Amino acid sequence: MVRVSTFSTTLNAVTNTWNPQSWRNFSALQQPAWPTDGDLEQTLKILGDQPPLVFAGEARDLLDKLGAASRGEAFLLQAGDCAESFESSADSIRDRLQVILQMAVVLTYAGGMPVVKVGRIAGQFAKPRSSDTETQGNVELPSFRGHIINDIGFSESERRAQPNRLLMAYNRAAATLNLVRAFTRGGYADLNRVHQWNQEFVADSPIGEKYETLATDIERSLAFMTACGIDLNREASLNEVDFYTSHEALLLDYEEALTRKDSITGDWYDCSAHMLWIGERTRQLDGAHIEFLRGVKNPLGCKVGPTATVDDVVGICEALNPDKIEGRVTLITRMGAESIREKLPPLLAAVKETGHPVLWVSDPMHGNTYTAPDGHKTRHFDAIVDEIAGFFESHQKAGTIAGGIHLELTGDAVTECVGGGDGLGDSDLAQAYETMCDPRLNGRQALDVAFRVAEIISQR
Ligand code: TRP
Ligand code: MN
Repeated sequence: MVRVSTFSTTLNAVTNTWNPQSWRNFSALQQPAWPTDGDLEQTLKILGDQPPLVFAGEARDLLDKLGAASRGEAFLLQAGDCAESFESSADSIRDRLQVILQMAVVLTYAGGMPVVKVGRIAGQFAKPRSSDTETQGNVELPSFRGHIINDIGFSESERRAQPNRLLMAYNRAAATLNLVRAFTRGGYADLNRVHQWNQEFVADSPIGEKYETLATDIERSLAFMTACGIDLNREASLNEVDFYTSHEALLLDYEEALTRKDSITGDWYDCSAHMLWIGERTRQLDGAHIEFLRGVKNPLGCKVGPTATVDDVVGICEALNPDKIEGRVTLITRMGAESIREKLPPLLAAVKETGHPVLWVSDPMHGNTYTAPDGHKTRHFDAIVDEIAGFFESHQKAGTIAGGIHLELTGDAVTECVGGGDGLGDSDLAQAYETMCDPRLNGRQALDVAFRVAEIISQR
């Protein structure tokens, strides 16, 4: 027996009064079939009593920084796992952070402007799926929907949706965020360590050498400033980074339970992460995801794929950002390298016409996925770089701002995407294919992408 939390309705998101539960009157796609016994209600009550993971003031700081990125005064680097695992080790979390810091250094240096660092981290546990079930042989089971819902193993017990996973997700997110805060505030992110972030598997490669050269330049600049009498150890701006969390706000039961009223402003914030985004599959204007997110004041993202129309995109801006606040809406385009130069320009022109302040970001991963001959889902490095190039070209022509990139990556030495400096091919995929969902860039490929973007932004 299952309870499916999907309602059909004729309510309109914009005229309806919002509250943290109002999404329940709308159609919510991609929600799991929870067991019918009382566990879910009980769990949500416990979750509702937990402390917030992030604070409203932090979300407001991020809003300002994203606003700067939308004006071309900063650049957004949003990156992390496709689907985080409850099992990922402290080392794996540190290595992911380290790659992001390295990329941020490369981009800051090239662009000569601040890089806003946002992880797909500490909450990226829920995945939308194209089918409710998966069939292997003659066994049909519910699809894996992320560790916040069920487990990846193909057995009935592992695939059952378990409400107590919501609490495990909260605890995991809290522990991950604690580590992230420790690493970014406790000296690990200190620019004086710019060389040390170059892990072994990156250092002994051409891309690692390229990074070494840049790190040496930075070291020289720091030495110069010290020689001039500036005490670098007292400069928090050099020793720490502001690192923000984000995830797809897919599982609305969880997001609702972590939504709190800010005591200073009286506004609602979804305190599960600083920034939340709506996926390509759940961005219906009359759907529950738009309804829920329009009422929280966090900065919001929305994925935009090749089927998105001008009306869809303008509708999203109007629903989520009627007051046209800078930094409030980030549109993350994922068109595919082959369609971006055709599909993006009309959207840029239409949004520009409305005067909506949008931060445009490229997700060059999701439109470029294909299945290799051996059955692994993969993405080619060249297609990823080509989509980014098409993104910048489109903005250049439209007179709009290309404000950031959104990537799926890991610091682990995986073989999930093909191409890049090591020339990974389809036949190498099986060596270290570890993702629970989509193929991620490994550390070297990610750093390589950062250098490609650096080339483009240093010429602007
Ligand atoms: N705080 C600055 C920033 O976040 C400089 C900085 C310190 C930095 N450590 C860093 C930049 C690591 C990139 C990576 O931009
Ligand atoms: Mn993905």
